[in-house]
Amino acid sequence: MLVGLREILDIAEKESVCIPAFNVYNLETVKGVMRAAEKMRSPVILQIYSRLVTNGAAEGLSELICGFADRSNLPVCFHLDHGAGEKEVVRSLRYGMTGIMIDASTLPLEENIVATRGIVRLCDHVGVAVEGELGHIGKAADGDESVTHEYTRPEEAARFVSETGVAALAVMVGTAHGKYKKLPVLDIDRIARIKKATAIPLVLHGGSGVPDDQIRSAVAAGIRKMNFSTDLCCAFLDACRLRDKSIVGIDLFMEEPIRAVEKFALEKIDVLGSGGIL
Ligand code: 13P
Ligand code: ZN
Repeated sequence: MLVGLREILDIAEKESVCIPAFNVYNLETVKGVMRAAEKMRSPVILQIYSRLVTNGAAEGLSELICGFADRSNLPVCFHLDHGAGEKEVVRSLRYGMTGIMIDASTLPLEENIVATRGIVRLCDHVGVAVEGELGHIGKAADGDESVTHEYTRPEEAARFVSETGVAALAVMVGTAHGKYKKLPVLDIDRIARIKKATAIPLVLHGGSGVPDDQIRSAVAAGIRKMNFSTDLCCAFLDACRLRDKSIVGIDLFMEEPIRAVEKFALEKIDVLGSGGIL
């Protein structure tokens, strides 16, 4: 069943676990993730990048995702990831998304608050909860994840949450998007301090390539939603590359890539502890 961001994160808080949020792109990635969630009996967040809203892909994909969610008896949240602005957010609400992220994290604090608060108010008209971002989570390719002065500060996070009304907060604590050049080292103590200061579910972006022991520590410190995209894409694309090119039926060709996505999702659900809690 399709549920809201707040509802699914409430489950995570109650059980002290973390809900996986997988970026999906097409039927096959949705199928792989949903198979894993069903097998593990795990709540799951299916999210799509803002660019898929802009380029039109979200229109058909939304119907597909909502269909899978409706047919499942698991809690499934359909979420906009890194929402670029009001236009993308309004379209996403129209497509049936039940969670919205607004990413104004490159702006100075005051402007981030104003932009995020505006989106929270807008989404509140239709009862949809919002994830904001404070402390910019960059790209691993830029190698800037160890620049600690850009990390989220607990006291600013408390102000951001109370002045915007976000239901979840994405924090910069040492992760980055994409393939890491060297293993990330998460600031677990900072996660615990932000959690104490804000008392809301925290979100970790850049989940690909984070070692399992650090993921477990981050969840113990208060991370309740964790995003995975790059490694899911690689699992899918690598499986396509290895496929027998003489297979002509696209459905047959896609069997292995779907299984590769399912395997990746199963592993992450296992580490996050969200399986079998319902
Ligand atoms: P990765 O691509 O590094 O897994 O990050 C995912 C993410 O944060 C999506 O918002
Ligand atoms: Zn992200």
